[in-house]
Amino acid sequence: MAKPKITLSAIKADIGGFVGHSGVHPQLLARAEECLQASKLLLDFRVTHVGDDINLIMTHDRGEDCPEIHRLAWDTFASCTELARSMKLYGAGQDLLADAFSGNIRGMGPGIAEMELVERPSEPIVLFMADKTEPGAWNLPLYKMFADPFNTIGLVIDPKMHSGFRFEVLDLVEHKTVVFSLPEEIYDLLVFIGAPGRYCVRAVYSKETGEIAAVSSTQRLNLMAGRYIGKDDPVLIVRCQSGFPAVGEVLEPFATPHLVAGWMRGSHHGPFMPVSVAQSTPTRFDGPPRVVALGFQLCDGKLLGPQDFFADPAYDRARLLANELADYLRRLGPFEPHRLPLEEMEYTTLPEVRKRLSGRFVDADRAPLRSVAKA
Ligand code: F6R
Ligand code: MG
Ligand code: MG
Repeated sequence: MAKPKITLSAIKADIGGFVGHSGVHPQLLARAEECLQASKLLLDFRVTHVGDDINLIMTHDRGEDCPEIHRLAWDTFASCTELARSMKLYGAGQDLLADAFSGNIRGMGPGIAEMELVERPSEPIVLFMADKTEPGAWNLPLYKMFADPFNTIGLVIDPKMHSGFRFEVLDLVEHKTVVFSLPEEIYDLLVFIGAPGRYCVRAVYSKETGEIAAVSSTQRLNLMAGRYIGKDDPVLIVRCQSGFPAVGEVLEPFATPHLVAGWMRGSHHGPFMPVSVAQSTPTRFDGPPRVVALGFQLCDGKLLGPQDFFADPAYDRARLLANELADYLRRLGPFEPHRLPLEEMEYTTLPEVRKRLSGRFVDADRAPLRSVAKA
């Protein structure tokens, strides 16, 4: 008999901040908890948060893109939104882009990462949750976990990992995907994922077994809404051990905080700081961008955990470095490369300012400096 499949669905949304865009009010987490508790659809669930984003971590046996599960998440966020509005929390309902649920939560605002799997004899997973950044923030750590032997020694010495992994990459602008087989196509892959504002890793597969190894949320709110709403604050699910990277290999990339796009007004580069859930409330300049790693053992669909991995003092020095990088970048103020390049700020004030000043731009060859002096 075929082994039963279970699905892990991580669905997240910012439906109101406490205070400003920093955190989630405990009453909202309690409301989400009640909503999921009342449902008969789930095998298990956890409600948690990173910064101002509520994360619903759910297991069930209904597969990916199940309308009932998506509706449950939508209704939960809608109920929390009602409460957030009554409390006048900041930006209440900001990530719910539609008035009513339309069958699939993808494209409606919330971020979603789902993975259907047959549980192995032991199934350790790590769920990463980020605030104040975008889906491309996972590109560099995923590359290190699944393609870099300096990070993941398992690629060299575990025969089940030695053949490598496949990376599925999404072009966020053209909405196309392409698959790369690693290690042979590492250089081709890097041409694309080194540009995380446009290309992001959507999933990783084991070449040895064909099994799913990692899946990320790739929704880009601004591209969906056509205006600036906030960064997408993505999630990432990674399977660990026995043919996948060990838990420690999965956590290792975050020991060196890399620079990601997001932070204040979604318009700045900043260090990706690994923190515990308790430390996940952005403060300085609405940041720096944060990442939380929660470990679970799956047991017949039950979620044993979480282990709040970045609460460990082993990540103290990464936080220190992140804060040093933050000090340095902040000194650049409104200048690139702290501020994002203009193309990345397409949904902020740039188009308005450009329009307002368009009449004042004159042909540089026809406007000698003297005419400026006389004006
Ligand atoms: C970044 C973020 C915040 C806000 C900032 C301004 O993703 O959410 O940095 O952009 O606090 O917020 P508003 O425009 O709502 O006053
Ligand atoms: Mg917010
Ligand atoms: Mg957020």
